[in-house]
Amino acid sequence: MCGIVGYVGPRQATPILVGGLRRLEYRGYDSAGLAVLDPRTGKLGISRSVGKLVELERALERQPLPGHVGIGHTRWATHGRPSEANAHPHSVNGVAVVHNGIFENYLELKRRLQAAGREFSSETDTEIVAHLIDEALGAGAPTLVEALRVALSQVVGAYALVVVSERHPDEIVAAKNASPLVIGLGNGEMFLASDVPAMLEHTRDVVFLEEGEVVELRAAGFKLSNLAGAPITRPSRRILWDAVQAEKNGYPHFMLKEIHEQPRAIADTLRGRLQPETSDVDLDGYELDPRSLRRVVLVACGTSFHAGLIGKFMIESLARVPCEVDLASEFRYRDPVIGPNDLLIAISQSGETADTLAAVKEARAHGCRVLAISNVVDSAIPRISEATVYTHAGPEIGVASTKCFTAQLAALALIAIHMGRRSGHLKAPEAARLITELAAIPARMTTALSALGDLKDVAARYRDARDFLFIGRGTSFPIALEGALKLKEISYIHAEGYAAGEMKHGPIALVDDGVPVVVLAPRGPHYDKIISNLVQVRARNGRVIAVGTEGDTQLADMAECVLWVPDVSPLMQPFLTVLPLQIMSYAIAVARGNDVDQPRNLAKSVTVE
Ligand code: BG6
Repeated sequence: MCGIVGYVGPRQATPILVGGLRRLEYRGYDSAGLAVLDPRTGKLGISRSVGKLVELERALERQPLPGHVGIGHTRWATHGRPSEANAHPHSVNGVAVVHNGIFENYLELKRRLQAAGREFSSETDTEIVAHLIDEALGAGAPTLVEALRVALSQVVGAYALVVVSERHPDEIVAAKNASPLVIGLGNGEMFLASDVPAMLEHTRDVVFLEEGEVVELRAAGFKLSNLAGAPITRPSRRILWDAVQAEKNGYPHFMLKEIHEQPRAIADTLRGRLQPETSDVDLDGYELDPRSLRRVVLVACGTSFHAGLIGKFMIESLARVPCEVDLASEFRYRDPVIGPNDLLIAISQSGETADTLAAVKEARAHGCRVLAISNVVDSAIPRISEATVYTHAGPEIGVASTKCFTAQLAALALIAIHMGRRSGHLKAPEAARLITELAAIPARMTTALSALGDLKDVAARYRDARDFLFIGRGTSFPIALEGALKLKEISYIHAEGYAAGEMKHGPIALVDDGVPVVVLAPRGPHYDKIISNLVQVRARNGRVIAVGTEGDTQLADMAECVLWVPDVSPLMQPFLTVLPLQIMSYAIAVARGNDVDQPRNLAKSVTVE
């Protein structure tokens, strides 16, 4: 998730582009760059820098970029570490491009272009398109937009792509597929951006591009068409949000926005990795053969630890490799029995958490192999790991993790299927079924989120509870832990998650008519058992909030309140059963007037011990 801007008009482009990128920095901030057409020389002036936008501003003070047509980008790395060479724009022969998204077939295209004698200066997937456009122009494409269409006909993947060219000095062309892109209508000038906040200080009249659309922008106006070239007309919309609201896409908090971004975060994390044609999973070229492994140890902290607990279910059931899950803060001091035949999987959204980093160092000191799962390219933990499966959730601003949690589940499912196929345990037909079900998860999440709504009524009912209990079995046990953590993090209500089978060994003593008990009871192998736990709670006047599979009429009669989720297989259930718990916690925290995005005493990433 990167931020993109574009401008064509009478004013100096640079300050407008930098202002727009400042408003989009929540989308990515590991490097940034501009390309501006200098009317004096007819050449593209390009400036790129690593780090936050302020570094680019410093570079522009040293070397300004004059001109009225330009594009800009603030990056959240997916392919290639944050560096000046990998920063956007990427330019080839006077054609410069900025991109937000992922090209799935970029390696294949790169090989073809290299065979044709072209050289590359970055590790990115984006640079491919600059070459493809230049190639199309060289082959006689009559216009820049035509050259863009030729290039797009060869790529597979998600993109918001914006292009300027020295050979076409008065225009910007752009295209959208799966990543957001908005046109801003000015008076004798035009704007383009990934999101509305970038242009609100200049215009409130916008046109949102839809899937598979292409736009030509000139100062006087824009032309919209589809990939085949057929013209499209669309009325503009007037945006009434203020800039802060716009950064949250109209949501009151980043956390709620991020809860609703989960379908996209999962889709982007799966993109280019599911291989239905071979019933297999590609871990970005990394091969992980479990046959040489004695066991897998998953280490993490906080919400990432709960993802690890579900990873254990996935890897053990699909690859039959024994897994242990450890809190990093314990693992690092326990002189763990670990060695070269073990694989440590370190899970960390930020990639910087001190305890998890130390656990990785400890494991490496024992000669152990290390695979990381992280959301931040080239952060500390990935830098010292053998390989990393990056989640592509985009920056997560809310301190309480939501979209990065479910994106971690997607990464773990990918790893488990990959290992399962190589262990020989997971046969092609079953793998094909799992791959189909995983690919359908984003749509199921969208359905679940819209059916659940805002749960304000549930919040009103339970907001004054002093204690909460969350119980579950199988893959729902870690979700019970995660639900309790979410509620604690942002509502400050005491909450505990428990394996339901443990209730009678202690926690049931807490149950009375003042304690809401969240019972995770989706259909599946543990259903009957969890229902009997629910009955035990009811017998002590516990107030049952159940999470159940749509259509389960029995549950509706047994619980004070039921939060419904679509029916999927047990390994996929965590993607859905966590959603009502995220929304309920959010709604209760808001009802209690708490600062949901920056709750007390917590930090997004704990980089000190
Ligand atoms: C805490 C965050 O500081 O660290 C949690 O508030 C998070 O949301 C935990 O789960 C672990 O962080 P990471 O970045 O290692 O996944």
